Amino acid sequence: MPKLIGPIFQTLTLDKLPIKGALKDDQLEIIEKAGILIEDGKIFKVGNWEKLRKEFPKAEIFELTGEFVAIPGLVDCHTHGCFGGSRAKDFAMRNAGKTYLEIAEAGGGIWDTVSETRKHTIEELATITAKHANRHLSDGVTTIEVKSGYGLSVNEELKILRAIHAAKKYTSAELIPTCLAAHTKPKDFSGSNIDYLKLISEELFPILKDERLCNRIDAFVEKSAFSPEEINPYFQKAKDLGFDLTVHADQFSVGGSKVAVAFGARSADHLEASGKKEISLLAQSDCISVALPGASIGLGNGFSPARELLDQGAALAIASDWNPGSAPMGDLLTQVAVLATFEKLSTAEVFAGITFRAAAALGLSDRGKLVTGALADLILFPTSDYREILYHQGKMKPVEVWKLGSKDVL
Ligand code: NIG
Ligand code: FE
Repeated sequence: MPKLIGPIFQTLTLDKLPIKGALKDDQLEIIEKAGILIEDGKIFKVGNWEKLRKEFPKAEIFELTGEFVAIPGLVDCHTHGCFGGSRAKDFAMRNAGKTYLEIAEAGGGIWDTVSETRKHTIEELATITAKHANRHLSDGVTTIEVKSGYGLSVNEELKILRAIHAAKKYTSAELIPTCLAAHTKPKDFSGSNIDYLKLISEELFPILKDERLCNRIDAFVEKSAFSPEEINPYFQKAKDLGFDLTVHADQFSVGGSKVAVAFGARSADHLEASGKKEISLLAQSDCISVALPGASIGLGNGFSPARELLDQGAALAIASDWNPGSAPMGDLLTQVAVLATFEKLSTAEVFAGITFRAAAALGLSDRGKLVTGALADLILFPTSDYREILYHQGKMKPVEVWKLGSKDVL
């Protein structure tokens, strides 16, 4: 039986907004006093509530009392949500003057989280991942990318990716796994960076395919991790096997965005260090630029040049980068609201960046807009003015979260 939700004071469909470039708020399609008709987990029709009620008298009615704003379910296209331990000591050390890279070089940082994550069983990691996913879901995030990258051996990376799959039992948020075995060379591996990447591509990639564990390969291209020259053969192998690519690019130094564009990666994420050359390269490509304000806030670094990227014509998504090291907050709406004030982003640009543009970074075109045929992923906020959502900087939470046409219990 179809379901009909309404009446909704303002429904932002995000229909007709382009994938690339700057957006103004007057480009937002707003349907007032709307109903949303759902069938088989997809949106069947968005239109006038009274008319839809008459047109579909047999629909199961989910009548709302009060004033609400509906927007598509949010998509967080970059998280590291499967990890053990805490890095509170890194946070304190950074605030006392050490840099992220100095802490990593001294044996802390990512390696510390690897040691903690390796101590957990698959089932424990699944529970941790689901806990993060369910917190995100209650904040309105209905699709969540989750990277591995805290295992850093064939078996430990497999354990994490299997745990991400196992977490699906405990959450109705959709989890999209990505293999980030190329996060940094593990300290217990005696060969070179190239040897490590060769081992991963030869031994892990085929298992990822066989077990259908993930369709996406990520790499941290950075001085403390892997150089473009080291990543090129690794990405070539991944591409030949049919994986989608994404890059941790230009976080502290440039180089990664060029690799991303050269390989036709779905996205280049971070970009805090990107300059004019990198921005124009990204803007001229189909690669989605992903800003990660949570990492800028976590490390006290500047924000990615979101305004400039949009003005040059890039597709900008914004993600939480939720991880124990650089971005422990994991609150997407707070982070995008902060980025919007510093980078002067319109509400339309922010909403596009955490819905259909973020979905595009994951290679998904079936969600992120409230239009006929899209997945029925939507969230309702208790307000009559869509601008209130970002204005409250993450403190206004959705009152209803719908995933695939089912209302989640918050
Ligand atoms: O996206 N930059 C590399 N990776 C993560 C941080 C991982 C960590 O510090 O544990 C990031 O910021
Ligand atoms: Fe990251």
